[in-house]
Amino acid sequence: MRVRNRSKLPLESLEPVLLPLGPIGDLGKVFPDLSPDSTTELEIGFGKGLHLVNASQANPNTRYLGVEIERKYVFFAATTLIRKGIRNVRLVAGDAAVFVTNHVAEASLDVVHIYFPDPWWKKRHHKRRLVTQAFLEQILRLLKDGGIIRFATDVEAYFQMTEEILVNLKGVERSNPGNSSNPLHDMDYLTHFERKARLKGKPIFRWDLKKMV
Ligand SMILES: C[S@@+](CC[C@H](N)C(=O)[O-])C[C@H]1O[C@@H](n2cnc3c(N)ncnc32)[C@H](O)[C@@H]1O
Repeated sequence: MRVRNRSKLPLESLEPVLLPLGPIGDLGKVFPDLSPDSTTELEIGFGKGLHLVNASQANPNTRYLGVEIERKYVFFAATTLIRKGIRNVRLVAGDAAVFVTNHVAEASLDVVHIYFPDPWWKKRHHKRRLVTQAFLEQILRLLKDGGIIRFATDVEAYFQMTEEILVNLKGVERSNPGNSSNPLHDMDYLTHFERKARLKGKPIFRWDLKKMV
């Protein structure tokens, strides 16, 4: 993924939207401007942050957390958030597997978004794929009852691999969301990778998973 050159903001000015990789702690303190009963969503591997930027603007009373392993994308997305004055998103630079295993409180999240994870095409690299049974079990632990995991990819083989995992998960209900409607403008897509795939006419494969009460 290419990061467009654009004028950089000083690192200190990005600090209001950045969190260190460590325990998240009291979400009320992390998002002091939001109501204490706000819902909380987490995006894993947000890349350049299109979904976080659009969703946070559409839902200004929802808290959004994002974790992304590539610092250059974290800074790119943080720059957009600061420039747009968005106050309901916090970004963590780090490995999502470490983050969900160690740093987020149990039953604290309402929605987790996983969009277009790296496919690791070669068979010998499949073990590097982020979405494994253990990873999804960690996320289910972090969801409140009734919470949802949303997944999308343009890689059919990755989708099929996740389908095999889903049948092994207990206490969940799966559904298949429909495709997004036609974009109203050039950036009206769920994420940058969805945009690239759809502009090439590729199909998108999706599931939602609900944690049952
Ligand atoms: C194919 S890109 C998709 C980016 C974005 N979700 C989109 O749809 O435009 C996959 C993203 O996941 C990030 N990523 C890969 N492994 C990760 C990990 N272990 N923890 C957090 N982010 C990760 C990559 O750096 C990259 O930004």
